[in-house]
Amino acid sequence: MKPAVILYKSLPDDLRAKLDDHFSVTEVKDVSPETVKQHAEQFASAQGLLGSGGKVDDELLAAMPALRACSTVSVGYDNFDVDALNQRHVLLMHTPTVLTETVADTMMALVLSTARRVPELDKWVKAGQWQKSVGPAEFGIDVHHKTLGILGMGRIGLALAQRAHFGFGMNILYNARRQHEEAESRFGARACDLETLLKESDFVCISLPLTEQTHHMIGAAQLKLMKPSAILINAGRGPVVDEQALTAALKDGTLHAAGLDVFEVEPVPADAEILTLPNVVALPHIGSATHETRYGMARDAVDNLIAALNGKVDKNCVNPQIQA
Ligand code: GLV
Repeated sequence: MKPAVILYKSLPDDLRAKLDDHFSVTEVKDVSPETVKQHAEQFASAQGLLGSGGKVDDELLAAMPALRACSTVSVGYDNFDVDALNQRHVLLMHTPTVLTETVADTMMALVLSTARRVPELDKWVKAGQWQKSVGPAEFGIDVHHKTLGILGMGRIGLALAQRAHFGFGMNILYNARRQHEEAESRFGARACDLETLLKESDFVCISLPLTEQTHHMIGAAQLKLMKPSAILINAGRGPVVDEQALTAALKDGTLHAAGLDVFEVEPVPADAEILTLPNVVALPHIGSATHETRYGMARDAVDNLIAALNGKVDKNCVNPQIQA
């Protein structure tokens, strides 16, 4: 008999067929308590769980006593209680490699569109306000040869450094838990403490996961250290930045602009004050959202679940230490 699996994300047809070849699949819309209650038997017998978003916590795990592996279609896994998974010996698989270049492209897009005010001026032209040659009121600020500070030098940070160094001749600073020799030797990146990075960077780019340590790592005090001409880019997780403090800093001129792909609450409420600010470029968490990359993530997530439920995990596992 094929192992039972809960799927809570729709997959391209070929990947769904592959999943069906290996498992007996129940597709549900999410993993909310209501859905779990509705499909209690299927959740109780499932050995695998594949999808993205939604909290996978002790309450959900208690309803899934047969669970052996979760496979998330994402690199981030802050919505999973990893300690609870470890206690229950449930593997957690994710997609850390396939999206790297695409997310770095998104970050560079935010750097360029905030500095050159692309969305704001697009609206301005379409509203018929282009009546004569532009003047200082429409000018932006240069990106090339400026200093770009990266918080979190993981795969995505490295791909961003590559773009900034080779494409834009930028000077790279980074703050990370470990020294990154490749970033230093290939892109001339300089490791520094958070305070120095915030003080010296023209662009501060956040590519950090959300953990207890990174929650509100950038608050009012840190924003004050930044240059008034500086721009903050966040494509990691919203709660790494205190959004209220950021809104205040953008309003009072402590900070020039912000490019945000992530928010403290997602979807960001339509009436959030931060969305009213002209110096904010807001995106709906599209870091990895291209046809090619989202397909690649779904493909990896399916392969990851097949590997995990067959005892063949050799990559993409958050907690490999729990394997017997
Ligand atoms: C996107 O935010 C991801 O974690 O993949």
